[in-house]
Amino acid sequence: MTISPLFRLGAALLCCILISQALGQDCSCNFHVKGDCQANGNACVCKLPIGPDLTPIDCTKPIPKCFLMKRESNPGKGGRRPKPENALVDNDGLYNPDCEGNGIFKARQCNNTETCWCVNSAGVRRTDKGDKNWKCTELVRTFWVIVQLTRNNTDSIPEADLKKAIADTITNRYKLPAKFITNIEFEGPLIYIDLKQNTTEKTPNDVDIADVGYYMEKDVKGDPIIPLDNPFQILVNGKNVPVKEPLIYYIDEKPHEISMKRLTAGVIAVIVVVVVAIVAGIVVLVLTRRKKGRYEKAEVHALVNLTVGFFKCILDLWDNCL
Ligand SMILES: *[C@@H]1O[C@H](CO)[C@@H](O)[C@H](O)[C@H]1NC(C)=O
Ligand SMILES: *[C@@H]1O[C@H](CO)[C@@H](O)[C@H](O)[C@H]1NC(C)=O
Ligand SMILES: *[C@@H]1O[C@H](CO)[C@@H](O)[C@H](O)[C@H]1NC(C)=O
Repeated sequence: MTISPLFRLGAALLCCILISQALGQDCSCNFHVKGDCQANGNACVCKLPIGPDLTPIDCTKPIPKCFLMKRESNPGKGGRRPKPENALVDNDGLYNPDCEGNGIFKARQCNNTETCWCVNSAGVRRTDKGDKNWKCTELVRTFWVIVQLTRNNTDSIPEADLKKAIADTITNRYKLPAKFITNIEFEGPLIYIDLKQNTTEKTPNDVDIADVGYYMEKDVKGDPIIPLDNPFQILVNGKNVPVKEPLIYYIDEKPHEISMKRLTAGVIAVIVVVVVAIVAGIVVLVLTRRKKGRYEKAEVHALVNLTVGFFKCILDLWDNCL
């Protein structure tokens, strides 16, 4: 029995097409728009331009924040829910971080300058800044990340449905095991998501909560790291619930060491004494003038304005100091 050459050629071609499709399938970077992946045998090898070099990366899970920040080499207002003492906000924004080979932040960061400081495992500054001799003895772990989001509209949605939708987005999109999402709660338009993962709970393969926070922040800001064919959505009954103004808080396993410029008790005491003296002065003045029958409304108004001004000034100061 002979097989016609045409048939052989056809079979060979079909075979070729199938193989190339199988190889081409899914060999793209699911976790970075700029990831460059090439099929190599059965493997899909991905690289990302990090700093000046093309660095091999694993594109099947979120890429460590240190690499992402290095690649990019800067949130809204807080709500009323009390923040845990020691909560850090990433006010410093972006710097050019030094990463370990596995994408973990080096404990000391200098942003390629002479000024150095210590960071936590989320890369957020947790000490004051110093010179090149600044010492950081360990990388303190951020075991708790609070993601605060604001809903863009007030459409009423059952809380349980919204909670489930948010948790699904986090577990599916960022590959974070559900056990690390410890709480989701609502306060008017604000959404608070607690992600907790301490040193003992996290296995080397688990996505870090700080990486999830970073991906999510970028997603909500409309500047996604994940390719656009997989858009960020919080789906309730097939409908996206739009959110905005992400704000992320980082709480470390050890208290941070940033010296706070707060009003000390001494300064507060002085302010209170001055305020009491001024109020007493106005009362005495009004009473004595009234007795003498020389009470002038305009004068009192001027004094009241002066006092209000003084209070405003204190309040401004207060804001700046907290
Ligand atoms: C890091 O350096 C860049 C460029 O010199 C600068 O714009 C940025 O503000 C620095 N960031 C910090 C946190 O010092
Ligand atoms: C880590 O978290 C687990 C579960 O919440 C807790 O049992 C454990 O004591 C924690 N470990 C540390 C070192 O804080
Ligand atoms: C939020 O609502 C405003 C006004 O309706 C709209 O312009 C904006 O695109 C919305 N943002 C998101 C993230 O949906």
